[in-house]
Amino acid sequence: MDKMPKVKIAPAKGKLGVLTPGLGAVSTTFIAGVMAIRKGLAKPIGSMTQMGTIRLGKRTEHRVPKIKDFIPLSKLDDLVFGGWDIFKDNAYQSAITAGVLETGLLDKIRPELESIKPMKGVFHKHYVKKLNGTYIKSAKTKWDYAQMLMEDMQNFKDTNRLNRLVIVWCGSTEIFIKPEAVHKSLEAFEKGLKKNHPAIAPSMIYAYAALKLGIPYANGAPNLSHDFPALFELAKETHAPISGKDFKTGQTLMKTIIAPGLKARMLGLHGWFSTNILGNRDGEVLDDPESFKTKEESKLSVLEFILQPELYPELYHKFYHKVRINYYPPRGDNKEGWDNIDIFGWLGYPMQIKVDFLCRDSILAAPIVLDLALYMDLAQRAKFSGIQEWLSFFFKSPLHLPDLYPEHDLFIQQMKLKNTLRFMMGEEQITHLGADYYEYYR
Ligand SMILES: NC(=O)c1ccc[n+]([C@@H]2O[C@H](COP(=O)([O-])OP(=O)(O)OC[C@H]3O[C@@H](n4cnc5c(N)ncnc54)[C@H](O)[C@@H]3O)[C@@H](O)[C@H]2O)c1
Repeated sequence: MDKMPKVKIAPAKGKLGVLTPGLGAVSTTFIAGVMAIRKGLAKPIGSMTQMGTIRLGKRTEHRVPKIKDFIPLSKLDDLVFGGWDIFKDNAYQSAITAGVLETGLLDKIRPELESIKPMKGVFHKHYVKKLNGTYIKSAKTKWDYAQMLMEDMQNFKDTNRLNRLVIVWCGSTEIFIKPEAVHKSLEAFEKGLKKNHPAIAPSMIYAYAALKLGIPYANGAPNLSHDFPALFELAKETHAPISGKDFKTGQTLMKTIIAPGLKARMLGLHGWFSTNILGNRDGEVLDDPESFKTKEESKLSVLEFILQPELYPELYHKFYHKVRINYYPPRGDNKEGWDNIDIFGWLGYPMQIKVDFLCRDSILAAPIVLDLALYMDLAQRAKFSGIQEWLSFFFKSPLHLPDLYPEHDLFIQQMKLKNTLRFMMGEEQITHLGADYYEYYR
């Protein structure tokens, strides 16, 4: 079979700036992690771009390069970090407060971490009730805030002599906002910015500023930030890739691993009860019912889409799904998530699965930030703009085209991602259909 044409990908020349609104547990674990890896102090465990391989051609060809040797990604040495926060702490202080990484490790990269000082954030307590930001910009309108953020982005790029930027939202989860008229078109949204429309949250202002400058923007939190027609329009206009939302870590990661397996074996589900305890700042923010609602929506949709009750009513009709998050300070970032899964098998006989995942949230999220930053930059250099469905693998609530349903199954997501990389590089897509096997035995 002829090879498909290669997508033209601009080389990863010069430095790539990775900016995160929010310099908290996830972002400092990501930044400190990359610094430690660059110094040879640790390994990039959990990062697909750094550790993953990709099979090319037929199995008999034995071509399985590392992903980072196959596609032109930015090198870790070429990443430059920055961000915004609503507290003044530098990345070292913030990492100490987050308590995810050991002080021994942080001290080995302390000067580098200390040099990362956040820019003042755009914030309003209405959108994150549990936080009292003290390090925030002040302006008359949301439009003015957007201009200030664009200046920050441009200054950061110039000062650090960067070639390109990507932005990954690692800020706190904002309250639940339903898209309304102001989100429907770019024109309405820009008017809304000028008139301080209350349905425009700070994360949307960051997203607008990034996209206006054509900078790729990914959202790691579940709140509405760029996933509405106005900013889809802007992303298309400025050719910026967008992706999101809500990093797929912890309990939902487990759900998207187990549920496809149950469905593959045609095992039924009566109910799935999930509860968590966590004690970091994220847990505190999610203790507020309005922020929790945003998270709940994101976590609940996963099973419906994977199990497809409309196709398998005898197995998945009206299964009961409950998700709870409890703020419990003694645990810090070391969350514990319990799942009780009531399933049924042959002739309807009931069984139970219990999962007790003692995970570390930010340890699972940090490599996702790295992979997203590198893939979003790749997407832009490949001239892929708008929604990047092939990055669904990293998210609990993947952005999808308006007339399609989101793909939640981790294994389908992985196949889609790797096939996109093969497509970019002019390699045959692999469907695992086994046609070669058929020819062999004929
Ligand atoms: N840790 C995970 O596994 C995981 C998984 C999925 C999603 N998330 C989401 O990622 C985000 C970050 O998580 P985290 O554990 O680092 O939380 P965190 O509370 O440690 O960090 C968030 C930071 O954002 C800052 N912030 C809040 N509003 C801001 C604004 N408007 N501008 C700039 N900074 C702002 C806060 O001051 C804080 O320092 C949260 O929304 C969380 O829900 C995390």
